[in-house]
Amino acid sequence: MRILVTGGAGYIGSITTCVLLDSGHEVLVLDSLERGHRQAVDPRATLIVASVGDREVLDSILPGIDAVLHCAGYIEVAESRRDPDLYYRKNLAEPSMMLDRMTTHGIRNLVFSSTAAVYGQPEQMPITEDAPLAPLNVYGASKLSFERMIDITRSSGLMNAIVLRYFNAAGASPDGALGEDHPNESHIIPLVLRAASAGTPFTLHGDDYPTPDGTCVRDYLHVMDLADAHLRALERLHEGGESLACNLGSGCGYSNREVVRMCEEVTGAAVDVRVGPRRVGDPATLIASNARAKDTLGWHPARDLRTMVEDAWRWHSGHPDGYGDASTAQG
Ligand SMILES: NC(=O)c1ccc[n+]([C@@H]2O[C@H](COP(=O)([O-])OP(=O)(O)OC[C@H]3O[C@@H](n4cnc5c(N)ncnc54)[C@H](O)[C@@H]3O)[C@@H](O)[C@H]2O)c1
Repeated sequence: MRILVTGGAGYIGSITTCVLLDSGHEVLVLDSLERGHRQAVDPRATLIVASVGDREVLDSILPGIDAVLHCAGYIEVAESRRDPDLYYRKNLAEPSMMLDRMTTHGIRNLVFSSTAAVYGQPEQMPITEDAPLAPLNVYGASKLSFERMIDITRSSGLMNAIVLRYFNAAGASPDGALGEDHPNESHIIPLVLRAASAGTPFTLHGDDYPTPDGTCVRDYLHVMDLADAHLRALERLHEGGESLACNLGSGCGYSNREVVRMCEEVTGAAVDVRVGPRRVGDPATLIASNARAKDTLGWHPARDLRTMVEDAWRWHSGHPDGYGDASTAQG
């Protein structure tokens, strides 16, 4: 297949690009680099630096594309509260141009990076895809709005789409070459690893949640397992498989304190943990049911939390400043 990966200079998109190339597919990466890294793009891929909302660029690159993997987006919950317009523009308005041009050029297959944030705080654990869709923040609402836009295009018979709702992506490429480098990092594993190596304090956001140790429980999935699910989703659509939405998670929950302990074991450093206030709108527990992804994609998460932390630590140790381009990577 000739695949267009949007956001292919970001964390998940860059690692998925490598996996698609290794499987023999051709990849074009479309990324504005506003939050990504040129160095993260595999040299075997063609990089086009532009927004997913750039009509002229889309019209020049879409003809001949077999499928689009749409990973581009803004991902920070707190920022989405401060600047909702930015999130509706980046996660909905600009991608809607891409949908429009895809249908104009007859490109029928789309895989979309969605998020567990579309569920808000469901009552039932693990969370199935039939749980109510009730996001608690603008980030989740912007991703759900794009899911709805895809649904409408799909139900008009113009497109087949697989929506993948990720829980928490973690880890790095096993060779330590590609990893997580977000401006204003908010994810726990990179933050704890940074604190472990620098000897600085790490702040937990609340320890009075209704969970066994009082800290939030989340479902972590290795980014290589995520990439494998994308490959399977793209191949399923190419072979004429039906559209669907499915969760991508390990099906296991770990509390923030358990994650900190794992980071301490892997790094051999004691982390100075402080407890701060809760973050607004943080659900106590989020654990995926991954039965649908297993049944429909034949997918199985293969890497455990220790492997995620070990791979993230290898990446962090080799790249203490990430890709080293922080000043140009800010949007
Ligand atoms: N990281 C996670 O744990 C996680 C969890 C759930 C869902 N997701 C979803 O996965 C996707 C990828 O996440 P990530 O962690 O790799 O993020 P990232 O910030 O590392 O990568 C996103 C990439 O998209 C690019 N981009 C953003 N807006 C763009 C636009 N309008 N046009 C072109 N390029 C644009 C950025 O430059 C960046 O390279 C996002 O859509 C996110 O919502 C991520």
